[in-house]
Amino acid sequence: MRKNIVAGNWKMNKTFQEAEELIDQIVVGMEETSLKCEVIACPPAPYLEMASDYAEESAIKIGAQNVSEHEKGAYTGEIAASMLASVDIEYCIVGHSERRKYFHETHDQLAKKVDILLDYGIKPIFCCGEVLEEREKEIHFEVVKKQLEDSLFHLNEDEFSNVVVAYEPIWAIGTGKTASPEQAQEMHAFIRSLMTEKYGITVANGVSILYGGSCNPGNAKAIFANKDVDGGLIGGASLKANDFLKIAASFE
Ligand code: PGA
Repeated sequence: MRKNIVAGNWKMNKTFQEAEELIDQIVVGMEETSLKCEVIACPPAPYLEMASDYAEESAIKIGAQNVSEHEKGAYTGEIAASMLASVDIEYCIVGHSERRKYFHETHDQLAKKVDILLDYGIKPIFCCGEVLEEREKEIHFEVVKKQLEDSLFHLNEDEFSNVVVAYEPIWAIGTGKTASPEQAQEMHAFIRSLMTEKYGITVANGVSILYGGSCNPGNAKAIFANKDVDGGLIGGASLKANDFLKIAASFE
């Protein structure tokens, strides 16, 4: 059966010292409570090795926020999947809406990122989701379907089983506006039905689908209680250990 996962996307926040303090607090908090989910922290790239050292000694898992679609070479400023693998990174966020919007990442490019991560044994946390206008026009299902078809559905069953999907309605990211538990469940069930069509029920039931967008300790429980919501990708609230741990404690 699929895992419940709570993943923190720290985005471009924290100095090295602050990052170390945060990860330390999360790890200590995890040791004090028995959480019923996998906990992943995705710090900025310069802190991945430090974070990875924590993962060696504790239950926390570490993810990167981005990866290059290229193998290696003259791509100044980019980070290769092989580099992430060499510091034992287990997960990597792919296709976050901020990367799609500000860095113009395309479906095709994201498909390549997914492939190269899987080649190096790193699990992609693939983000999808619609903007407000698309929801208002009631084309949000089509938008998400296209995102999955264009960047994920070329994978074979074995590869797909190593993917985590994060549904993040863009209108809910960093806005304080969350999707209602019903809206989240509706989209998650739709995503799972697409996976079932493509890969069959056994594979579809094994893939975790996370919700992201203004998740906080106050709303996480109601959202995660839905049958097809297997946890969350947490931005703002992952920057405070207490809030993040409370969200992770939403699974009973
Ligand atoms: P947020 O961000 O929790 O701050 O809305 C979520 C995300 O962007 O992954």
